[in-house]
Amino acid sequence: MADQIEEIKRKLDIVDVVSSYVPLTKSGKNYKALCPFHSEKTPSFMVSPTLQIFKCFGCSEGGDALSFYSAIEGVSFGEALKEMAKRAGVKLVSRKQSPEERQKEKFYEINRLASDFFHHLLTKHDVGKPALGFLKKRGLSKDSIEEFNLGYAPRSWDSLGRFIVKKGYTVTDLLQSGLASRKDQGRGYYDFFRGRAMFPLRSSTGRVIGFSGRALGDEQPKYINTTETPVFEKRRLLYNFDLAKREIKKKKTAILVEGELDAIALYEKGLKNVTATKGTALSSEQITTLSRFANNLLLCFDRDAAGLEATKKGIFIAQSAGLEVRAILLPEGKDPDEAIREDEDGFKDLVEKAPPIFDFYLESALSRFDPLTPLGKKKIAGEILPVVKSLANEVEKAGYLSRLAKELDIDEKVLWKQLEKEEAIEGERVFASSVKETSKSSKLPRKEAYLFAMLFSVPPSRIKSTIRKIALEDIKDLKLLALLEALKGYLKDIKRFRLENFSGKLDGDLRRVFEELVLIPLPQTDVEEEFAKALAAVKKGRFIRERKELLVQVRKAEKAEKPAQVKKLQRQIQELSRKIDGKD
Ligand code: UTP
Ligand code: MN
Repeated sequence: MADQIEEIKRKLDIVDVVSSYVPLTKSGKNYKALCPFHSEKTPSFMVSPTLQIFKCFGCSEGGDALSFYSAIEGVSFGEALKEMAKRAGVKLVSRKQSPEERQKEKFYEINRLASDFFHHLLTKHDVGKPALGFLKKRGLSKDSIEEFNLGYAPRSWDSLGRFIVKKGYTVTDLLQSGLASRKDQGRGYYDFFRGRAMFPLRSSTGRVIGFSGRALGDEQPKYINTTETPVFEKRRLLYNFDLAKREIKKKKTAILVEGELDAIALYEKGLKNVTATKGTALSSEQITTLSRFANNLLLCFDRDAAGLEATKKGIFIAQSAGLEVRAILLPEGKDPDEAIREDEDGFKDLVEKAPPIFDFYLESALSRFDPLTPLGKKKIAGEILPVVKSLANEVEKAGYLSRLAKELDIDEKVLWKQLEKEEAIEGERVFASSVKETSKSSKLPRKEAYLFAMLFSVPPSRIKSTIRKIALEDIKDLKLLALLEALKGYLKDIKRFRLENFSGKLDGDLRRVFEELVLIPLPQTDVEEEFAKALAAVKKGRFIRERKELLVQVRKAEKAEKPAQVKKLQRQIQELSRKIDGKD
């Protein structure tokens, strides 16, 4: 396995891998780009083709081609390895697939076939025309229909079934995939989805795991969904998460809506960090997934009380997982899909200014009950107090309680008393352990690090003559000093210097320091000149350190009453001061 990993790394070029996600521009020996892992205006994301590594000096995400892929796609190392092996054309001698894994693969494949079947009927066949008309009337663009691979399931009883069986699957496979149901009487099956607009549901890595089928008119139920199968668990599903996750990670915020059509509408309008829960209460599984990518959740749900009640527990779980929860208050009776299509800028403005979830609770309760009547006050307090009670932070609690008191025109003390009687909202805790630890930056002193960065960017043929200019005493940082010594030693034995060979000679800790130095963004100026400046700055640092030391010695000598010694030291200090002030 280790050999294969090495082979994959050898055959892949990190520059190719990264540039399929972000445009790279050349910067000396390296490439730079705007970091895809956090928002920034000037590039601090660097890639070294020589060392085949990347690092962002803004958010300290870093690593090799494999870890880049795993971070940007939000997949495990194993999954990254599989994909990268494919790209590099390396055959992984994989461990044997278990029967369950093989079965899952089969269901992924059946779902994929079905989704292409439905899509074909929608876009290429007469039978799909009414459904296409429906989707267009709902404002969906052609691009969205393609990107989301939307489809149409015909009214026929078994056209999908026959298609899947013709592809070599058994009726049992078909039934287990949830795409067909067994006939009540006798043998045989019928297609589960008939006469519906089809939304393929995708896993977080983009595989089709099931479907949601919407009626074209007012028939009930409005939606039917694939039942639970070995690859589809409704409570885990976050619709569109595969496409949204990169933007969610970058913005550290996920916009959460309820329906597929809402998600598609927002995505179409450029809010690419949108994902949908499909109308169910927010589950702890969904929150765990979200908390790996986001710090903030922005809920964009209907104003109605049922939806809110169902979501409360989820919100509480999200908060205890460390997520900051905000919510958008949409105009009465509108869902996000309608709201954004009607007033795009207005909607985006709401997103920007979304208030904390508490405001949403309060607004919602105030709009449904009358805060002027005793009964209304009781109902509003009954809704809001459990929310306040479940807050962990006492200051926040007090703040919200005093707001509630004002709205209801009730003495705060009364509310505090009532609060004691209320039950907090219960929710299992999700451990935010999954929140990624970023590789720690080694905190090198800036000037010295810069000098090394310059040193590593001079042409290899000149590195020997250049390094001679740096004395060991010039360097204060112990890691850099170790690196300098290692390099001086290394250069004695070799003819031609190569960064990648030298890197291979270093042990883990020192290599990380070295890699960081090689990636430091440098200005596009004359290397020699810039090196000289960097060296002067570092030497100045050294002289200042030495002067401090001499001053201590002078004081000692004065105390010991050794005037000759004092004089000698003062002369040295003067000399250093001249150098420090640049008069030498
Ligand atoms: P809604 O009922 O709010 O959808 O359900 P909607 O936004 O009014 O309907 P359209 O699609 O915009 O016309 C929100 C989501 O809940 C799930 C679906 O995923 C739907 O998108 N749902 C709804 C079901 O799973 N089953 C249902 O019967 C209804
Ligand atoms: Mn809708």
